[in-house]
Amino acid sequence: MRIGSLQLDGRGILAPLAGYGDSPFRVLCRRYGAAMVYTEMVSSLGIRFGNAKTMEMLAFDPAERPVDFQLFGARPDAMARAASVLTEAGVDAVDINMGCPEPKIVKTGAGSALLKDLALVDAVTAAVVHATPLPVTVKIRKGFQIDDNVVEDILGICEKNGVAALAIHGSTAVQGRSGAKDWDVIASAKEHAAIPVIANGGVKTAQDAQRFLAYTKCDYVMVGRAALGNPWVFEQINGILGGACPREIGVDERFSVMQQHVDLEIALKGEANGVKEMRKHLSFYFKGLPEATTYRGRINQITGAAELKGLLDEYHNICVNAGEEVYHEER
Ligand SMILES: Cc1cc2nc3c(=O)[nH]c(=O)nc-3n(C[C@H](O)[C@H](O)[C@H](O)COP(=O)(O)O)c2cc1C
Repeated sequence: MRIGSLQLDGRGILAPLAGYGDSPFRVLCRRYGAAMVYTEMVSSLGIRFGNAKTMEMLAFDPAERPVDFQLFGARPDAMARAASVLTEAGVDAVDINMGCPEPKIVKTGAGSALLKDLALVDAVTAAVVHATPLPVTVKIRKGFQIDDNVVEDILGICEKNGVAALAIHGSTAVQGRSGAKDWDVIASAKEHAAIPVIANGGVKTAQDAQRFLAYTKCDYVMVGRAALGNPWVFEQINGILGGACPREIGVDERFSVMQQHVDLEIALKGEANGVKEMRKHLSFYFKGLPEATTYRGRINQITGAAELKGLLDEYHNICVNAGEEVYHEER
């Protein structure tokens, strides 16, 4: 299956995850079979003005390909300029964020605020598609206010302007990250769409992903929170869609992935920042393991790579001795 010119292998896609979806995490998700990975959102104005922190976020590893870089912004000119910079940087696709409900993004007119202004949706999508030969994707929510539904309108604008795929989260911006997910609105969009539709929201397991795809008939399923500390969820999705039982991930493999994640973060960000960055990721990897609270507390005190490795080795042994049954806990 394809998104624009991109050939995708698999149907599970990593969602954009600000604060988590950096290059190391994306590499691991791709290694475990994500069909494509979205980056965390990047500011179009930050790119336009060459902000140092924003430019650091443009780092990616060839092992992530295909990688879809997500931009946020409300100014068509800045979004177009940022898309050109990303194109020169060699990314595979450019995504436009129209779903973020965070007040600091919404008050600038970006993210989910765009859902309130369809003329601006039209201008932004047209400007970005015009600025790059790469596939342009758009990620939306159902609407902004609780009863809003702008999905069909935005689908029409996207198709008119040459957008390559639409990712839909079936809740509104004011619902935030909780609230009921409307699968019917996604299914209806897929029924009418001429472009691929990506279903998003609330997938916790490979079985959920399978049900979501079966119900909505979408081309792809996008997974966010369920991939945290759990990048193998994509392999499990591919497995179950291929008719196999999802493979259980054993203790040794879990700890091996944790250490690979640590090594990738340190290679990208240096020892101090890499170790600090890993605290939040390890907290997710520890979910369901024995004595997780104790070890979460302990990693938060650690500042060096050798010390972190020692602690992970110690915890690995504890988990080996505790036996496999610990992994059957619900995530
Ligand atoms: C920590 C976190 C960061 C997120 N960052 C972004 C982001 O940068 N851009 C975006 O479009 N959505 C972002 N989202 C929303 C997710 O991409 C996704 O739409 C949402 O989590 C629902 O999918 P899920 O239930 O599979 O997690 C974020 C969500 C979380 C939990």
